[in-house]
Amino acid sequence: MQIIIYFKEMTSKSPHNALPDSIREDDSYILRKLYIETYGCQMNVNDSEIVVSIMKDNGVDLTSDINQADIILVNTCSIRENAEQRVWGRLDVFRQIKAKKPDLMVGVIGCMAERLKEKLLENEKLVDLVIGPDAYRELPSLLQEAGTGQKAINVLLSREETYADISPVRTDKNNVSAFVSIMRGCNNFCAYCVVPYTRGRERSRDAGSILREIGELNEQGYREVTLLGQNVNSYRRDKLPGNGSLDFSDLLEKAALEYPHMRFRFSTSHPRDISDKLLHAIARNSNICKHIHLPAQSGSSRILKLMNRGYTREEYLERIAAIRRIIKDCAISTDIIAGFCTETVQDHQQTLSLMEEAAYDFAFMFKYSERPGTDAAEKLVDDVPEEVKSERLSEIIKLQSTLSARSKEADTGKTVEVLVEGTSKKSEHELYGRNSQNKVVVFPNNGFKPGDYVNVKITRFTPATLIGVPVQQ
Ligand code: SAH
Ligand code: SF4
Ligand code: F3S
Repeated sequence: MQIIIYFKEMTSKSPHNALPDSIREDDSYILRKLYIETYGCQMNVNDSEIVVSIMKDNGVDLTSDINQADIILVNTCSIRENAEQRVWGRLDVFRQIKAKKPDLMVGVIGCMAERLKEKLLENEKLVDLVIGPDAYRELPSLLQEAGTGQKAINVLLSREETYADISPVRTDKNNVSAFVSIMRGCNNFCAYCVVPYTRGRERSRDAGSILREIGELNEQGYREVTLLGQNVNSYRRDKLPGNGSLDFSDLLEKAALEYPHMRFRFSTSHPRDISDKLLHAIARNSNICKHIHLPAQSGSSRILKLMNRGYTREEYLERIAAIRRIIKDCAISTDIIAGFCTETVQDHQQTLSLMEEAAYDFAFMFKYSERPGTDAAEKLVDDVPEEVKSERLSEIIKLQSTLSARSKEADTGKTVEVLVEGTSKKSEHELYGRNSQNKVVVFPNNGFKPGDYVNVKITRFTPATLIGVPVQQ
């Protein structure tokens, strides 16, 4: 196969330089098309934007049409077994496309690449390259290598890589809200979780590059930024030389004060170390959204200990009380795992009662899925039968829908500020956006556009959304 991509290093030393037009217009270079599919969490979405940026700088353009693609990349997730199953299914579809188009290259990137490594390359005709989350800078050279017919792989994890200097190419449709990664990796080793193994050690990105990226987004017209990390509360706990003493609440408040017309969100907070200092920073700044995602995982202290979460039920509920005390009208959401190793009916009942006490506004709920290599897989027995996990999960979901409805009912009659994201899927005469509490609000168009802040009076609600009418600003 011939040269597939152009290397910017040939003409420029700057990592920010996009491919020069002179090269784009030069017939002797072949510009390739990339199709990328992303699974998993928001960090993966942001990583795909970094990958697109690296590829664009090397003369590869993005396409949304898989049939036009010369390169297919699938950015993968390993968090639960079914996340991986979905990707295997997609790889089979790509294999069929590849059978008709032999030059097509298929790459697996992200967490599954890291976890399964060479296993993904076992089938000759399935995958050409495998690249872990810390090796995306190597994509152009690995594609070159794969282009010569060899299989290419780089799954080295790094203690330093944060991609701080790469400006992600935004792939969102609305041009209103964007993700900005402030750290990578995780050191928590919750017993069930694969992330510390697929993403490596925790490291923080320097504040200067974060604030610069937010500034660029502001100039491009973005109105909302979500700061991302597996545990944002430990931002800069690593104390790298030259990192200064700025912690997460300082960073968040600095961004909020510097860009008063933007809204700020963050994800995820670990309940063990969400500080009152952070809660006060949220309370004082109207443009820091009043929503905290605080995953409990379980309501039983015994299970929390086995999970290595580092807090008890009582300590968790104390943090919920602190949020309610310090921040007026703050939405709280959670993640819950049903059927972790040794979970009894009593433990499950404690999860339900914790959910009631915390009165969550929304929740992400999962059945426990054993992940090879984790502490739980090595030391505990996955002994809750599948049908019991399913039953418990259904009860958890049912309770949460009652709690969510209760929370939306309490919003009825209130006037809330909504940042418009786009036109409602159901009607072109309606817009949708979210309020500070991260609840989706739908209302009549009335000439507003994405990026506008609109005051909406809530009149009713459905299971998924609040519905209202715009009122005088
Ligand atoms: N860093 C975040 C969560 C990242 S993973 C945090 O600590 O909150 C997102 C969610 O997936 C977790 O909160 C957990 O609820 C769920 N999860 C992780 N591993 C899982 C597993 N093995 N089985 C089922 N759910 C899991
Ligand atoms: Fe996984 Fe725990 Fe780290 Fe979250 S904090 S990514 S659940 S190990
Ligand atoms: Fe999945 Fe990796 Fe995110 S395992 S949840 S994509 S960090």
